[in-house]
Amino acid sequence: MKNYIENNQQRFISELFELLRIPSVSADKAYQQDVLRAAEFIRDKLIQAGADQVRLCPTKGYPIVYGEKIIDPALPTVLVYGHYDVQPPDPLDLWESPPFEPEIRDGKIYARGASDDKGQMYMHIKAFETMMAQQSLPCNVKFMIEGEEEIGSDNLPRFVAASKELLTADVILISDTGLFSNEVPSITVGLRGLSYIEVEVTGPRRDLHSGMYGGAVTNPINALCEMIASLKDENQRITIPGFYDKVAELSEDERKAMNQVPFSQEEYMKSLGVKALRGEKGYTPLEHVSIRPTLDVNGIWGGYTGEGAKTVLPSKAYAKISMRLVPNQSSDEVTRLFEEHFKKIAPAGTEVKVMPHHGGEPAVTPTDSRAYMAASRAFEDVWGKTPVPMREGGSIPIVSLFERELGLKSVLMGFGLDEDAIHSPNESYRVFNYLKGIETITRFYKHFSAD
Ligand code: BES
Ligand code: MN
Ligand code: MN
Repeated sequence: MKNYIENNQQRFISELFELLRIPSVSADKAYQQDVLRAAEFIRDKLIQAGADQVRLCPTKGYPIVYGEKIIDPALPTVLVYGHYDVQPPDPLDLWESPPFEPEIRDGKIYARGASDDKGQMYMHIKAFETMMAQQSLPCNVKFMIEGEEEIGSDNLPRFVAASKELLTADVILISDTGLFSNEVPSITVGLRGLSYIEVEVTGPRRDLHSGMYGGAVTNPINALCEMIASLKDENQRITIPGFYDKVAELSEDERKAMNQVPFSQEEYMKSLGVKALRGEKGYTPLEHVSIRPTLDVNGIWGGYTGEGAKTVLPSKAYAKISMRLVPNQSSDEVTRLFEEHFKKIAPAGTEVKVMPHHGGEPAVTPTDSRAYMAASRAFEDVWGKTPVPMREGGSIPIVSLFERELGLKSVLMGFGLDEDAIHSPNESYRVFNYLKGIETITRFYKHFSAD
């Protein structure tokens, strides 16, 4: 297995480069043809690797690539999920090399999607190829690779609901998360949910001269800033009534365990270029980014932002606000609580519109399942260490969807690192992690299929 991967590593890397050159940005219609090309690329590679029934399943948006290898219906089946779409590359001028012209520097592949999720998803196709070539695939496998993850997977629920038979499996395997570090490998056992909202605050019906009217009329940008500022108190607790009602508190033992990993606050701050951290009182930074809910402004605009100064009291102000959710919060409920509260705190002289974008439910995955044990052993084989279970702060809403619709739990066997800078300029993925990941995946199949 290892030999095959070693002998083919150059090709495995150059194929990934080919995929990374396709700018499959799902958020931007200008890239529509490229997103489709990425789907076709995955389809072709699945066929070449030896999968059957390979096809693009149409949706109202971008297609889902499906493929399978059923070696014996009596054997267990692994359903692999991943995504071929990527985040927009902006801001472009901060990239040291162009986002869709991958290159390796210091052992890292630099490109948009290198880690999230093309690099990690493609490992599964190469692991599959490896097992097929060695005639060592020990169980059935199905692939379901979507192209709308980064924009909320709006069309996936319908596909999953309509394809229950096709997607029958025993476990879902996903590499779209991270490791604590290469020295402390981990398996992700929890993801946060998401409620994403856009707000519009309207003041006067038109932009006004800020001298003629300023002082008498509510400025919607000032109002929006006041409203946002009031959403957290001095302890960094969110002030929306009911927001914490459903939040599951962890036991002291659970909290102790999760804080045992070697986390250096100094290093963390240094890597981010900040001199201090600021999180909810009573919790550690590791807890802030995993087991606690958040509220963050993702963007805010309005008024005059061009060159020079224009004296204007604007008519409108906007913001995009995200809340990361933890068990047992529900995205719809939190969105509703936000909307009610936000309208209530609007100062006199403003009108507030609240427009929900996509959401997603939080998820926790078991640590005592056969699949988790198989993943754990796979890491032991390849990394020489037992991985620690770790909850992460990002969201993969389909994990809870799969559980609801298919009754299937996921194993989140990701190989990314914090340094990968996913969604940021200069996203990267270590060649080491790419190749080790492929090997680890093949070991997962072996252990998952052994009795
Ligand atoms: N792969 C990420 C999710 C992720 C990142 C999980 C890091 C764990 C650690 C995924 O592609 C992503 O970016 N998800 C979005 C949510 C989606 C609804 C747009 C996110 O977390 O913002
Ligand atoms: Mn991803
Ligand atoms: Mn992402």
